[in-house]
Amino acid sequence: MAELAGVFAASHAPLIARDWHLFDEPLRAKLTAPYRRLGARLRAARPDIVVEIAPDHWSNFFLNNLPSVCIGIGATHLGPPEPFMAGFGHTTLAGEPQFATHLLESALAGGFEPSVSHRLALDHGFCIPLWRMERDPLPPIVPIVINSLEPPMPTIARCIAWGNLLASAIASFPGSARIAVVASGGLSHSIGEPTMGAIDESFDAGCIRAFEAGGERAVVDYLDRTLPAAGNGSHEVRNWVAAHAAAGSRGFELIEYAAIPEVYVGCAWAAWNPAA
Ligand SMILES: [Fe+2]
Repeated sequence: MAELAGVFAASHAPLIARDWHLFDEPLRAKLTAPYRRLGARLRAARPDIVVEIAPDHWSNFFLNNLPSVCIGIGATHLGPPEPFMAGFGHTTLAGEPQFATHLLESALAGGFEPSVSHRLALDHGFCIPLWRMERDPLPPIVPIVINSLEPPMPTIARCIAWGNLLASAIASFPGSARIAVVASGGLSHSIGEPTMGAIDESFDAGCIRAFEAGGERAVVDYLDRTLPAAGNGSHEVRNWVAAHAAAGSRGFELIEYAAIPEVYVGCAWAAWNPAA
């Protein structure tokens, strides 16, 4: 059966790509070093497949069609549509339909009804971590979009259930593939609302404590209490929640945290490896 090779989580921000040419060297280093460390951890995990959990930033969906969860089951995905992502260099990314279909069937059998797409566009949310972790060549990607932009969003408890489902789908996938999980999003940020640009370092510290401590209950309790008053972008922490649950909620190791006002995001990087 397949094996969970490791679980990794990172923030993203459009400005990490769009404004890169404006950043001074210390700021570039502050962003580059943790992505590289995470990338080294991912490379050491030797994944055959990467399941990536990220939001969709209106690249595939809008208010006329807004799934809570969508699995990309296609053989290929489209690269990021945003012009500022042109430097990423991938106009298409390989998918992995066999595991994606197994995950879909496991979901349906387990009482989940995800949306599916045969042709997802993977926007900056998916691609900035892949790019900055310097994964080249890219392993086949099975993308899972969790709506974390616009209500109604899945509850934190439901995101944990999705992570648990993902873990069991990996454990029951025939063969010997090594499958890594990468979450993209969060931590605190506020976009297009009166608190635009605000970074809530207290919220971020609480998230990190909860993820480091592990356990499902602490994560649900903390986020149910604090997310409503955190910036709207903070809801992307749902992707971390699902990935953390895929690792059995056994706790993340924090690689780095930095509140970076230049990109409007409380940025964090974390990992869980079976051997760690
Ligand atoms: Fe985002």
